[in-house]
Amino acid sequence: MAEPRVTEADVLRALGTVKDPDLGRDLVTLGMIEDVAVRGDAVSFTVVLTTPACPLKGKIENDCRQAVLAVPGVREATIKMDARVVAGRGVRGKPSLPNVRNIIAVASGKGGVGKTTVAVNLALALSESGAKVGVLDADVTGPNVPIMLGAHGEPRARNNKIEPLVAYGVKVISIAFFVPEGTPVIWRGPMVGGTIQQFFNDVDWGELDYLIVYLPPGTGDASLTLAQLIPLSGVVIVSTPQDVALLDASKSLAMFQKLEAPIIGIVENMSYFVCPHCNERVDIFGHGGAERAAERLDVPFLGRIPLNPAIRIGGDEGVPILRSDPESPEAEAFRLTASQVAARISILTLGPTGKRPTWVPLPMAGR
Ligand SMILES: Nc1ncnc2c1ncn2[C@@H]1O[C@H](COP(=O)(O)OP(=O)(O)OP(=O)(O)O)[C@@H](O)[C@H]1O
Ligand SMILES: [Mg+2]
Repeated sequence: MAEPRVTEADVLRALGTVKDPDLGRDLVTLGMIEDVAVRGDAVSFTVVLTTPACPLKGKIENDCRQAVLAVPGVREATIKMDARVVAGRGVRGKPSLPNVRNIIAVASGKGGVGKTTVAVNLALALSESGAKVGVLDADVTGPNVPIMLGAHGEPRARNNKIEPLVAYGVKVISIAFFVPEGTPVIWRGPMVGGTIQQFFNDVDWGELDYLIVYLPPGTGDASLTLAQLIPLSGVVIVSTPQDVALLDASKSLAMFQKLEAPIIGIVENMSYFVCPHCNERVDIFGHGGAERAAERLDVPFLGRIPLNPAIRIGGDEGVPILRSDPESPEAEAFRLTASQVAARISILTLGPTGKRPTWVPLPMAGR
């Protein structure tokens, strides 16, 4: 008996059974299927994900392949995986930055927990996945994003706008580019707020999928300005596993919640240390504290980053671990965390409210 002739409608019907696990709806309804073509027993189509850093890319591709190969008459499936980042809920329709799709704040309650390190490596990981990324250093009194990104120079003005510098393919702006090295910036609150606003409005960011905003620690002027005036897609809170840091992290979280900024989740930095001599894992700041806190505060846990001298050296030398040792478990931990951040933003934008990203287990260094 001859095989039935396959049509585009058959392909779409089959793909209509494949769900994006995070967004909870099928790919056809979500508008993620494009360029369907049928040639005899061979079908081809493109899956347009909501972020190139999608942690479920492999699963979605496999599910699609299985679904279409189950259609009678289909013997071959060619799938192209693509991505188009959607503008975040908070950002959509706001005129201030028309070409920036998502603004992500990286904050913490306590100083020294690794916000700058996390912000910079998240930016690189998102950029590496194929997204267009910028970093805005909203720390005007102790700016050190440029040091960790190895970005030096003086931004130029063009058409009355400031051109950001570019480091590792990521656009970056910081007050450090405008004051001579070693000069302290001693400003009152309104000047801090004014400068941050200028960094949004007077910098030519161009088209960006993600603009990461590094916030100085605490609940000060920069955080307030940002949460009140800037349409945020969400806030990433960085904490170490120990109680004092977590207490401060929950205060910071509460402030953003009060200001109605969406919470992306909590990242645990300096999670554990793997002794290079005996390979034993040492939980210097305790174990799993941030994960438990995330559960208690009912926000997603985004990942844990080990404590490793290579991360510190990368920061000091302006070559983030993602570039200095891209194959390391530390770099991989940042990549997985970045994909959880991206997934959570897609969920906050398109998915059922309150849903957490589907967890992709994190590898533990040295195990
Ligand atoms: N996972 C890590 N492993 C090793 N060193 C780290 C790690 N995370 C951060 N560090 C180092 O710890 C120090 C503090 O980190 P960082 O500057 O990123 O923290 P911060 O929260 O931004 O601090 P501040 O509040 O002072 O701005 C830096 O020297 C950094 O290189
Ligand atoms: Mg810092």
